Amino acid sequence: MERTLSIVKPDGVEKNVIGEIISRFEKNGLKIVALKRIKLTKSDAEGFYAVHKERPFFGSLTDFMSRGPVVVLVLEGENAISKNREIMGATNPEEADEGTIRKDFATNIEENTVHGSDSPESADTEIKYFFNALEITG
Ligand code: CMP
Repeated sequence: MERTLSIVKPDGVEKNVIGEIISRFEKNGLKIVALKRIKLTKSDAEGFYAVHKERPFFGSLTDFMSRGPVVVLVLEGENAISKNREIMGATNPEEADEGTIRKDFATNIEENTVHGSDSPESADTEIKYFFNALEITG
């Protein structure tokens, strides 16, 4: 069993597709073991994406991530990290496979509707960024 962090980004919340996205996780066998709707400050977004701070898109990405509410979730299941990445599709929606969340809902490479952890180490760090132990129930 593995856990991963998912975020429905501000564009996904604005498009009113939170339920549609969560439903795709469940239909693919992932269990939601923690969930909340929150609004990040610019500083919260900068902390979360600190690994990207040297990238040219860092300022724009953190503005976007703090412009409206997001939904953060912990997904649990067998190979949850790679399964979630398959369900999301490629970072750039133009390269995403048919039937993936990003193909169906993303606006562009930045406003790409969902985030998912890319390794067990980042999953652990990212889950702890948003949730304490009492908020995660397996
Ligand atoms: P995510 O999977 O959350 O990880 C980093 C985010 O940075 C990514 O999704 C996009 O939202 C954003 N991103 C990645 N590459 C680019 C890019 N070339 N231009 C703008 N934003 C990007």
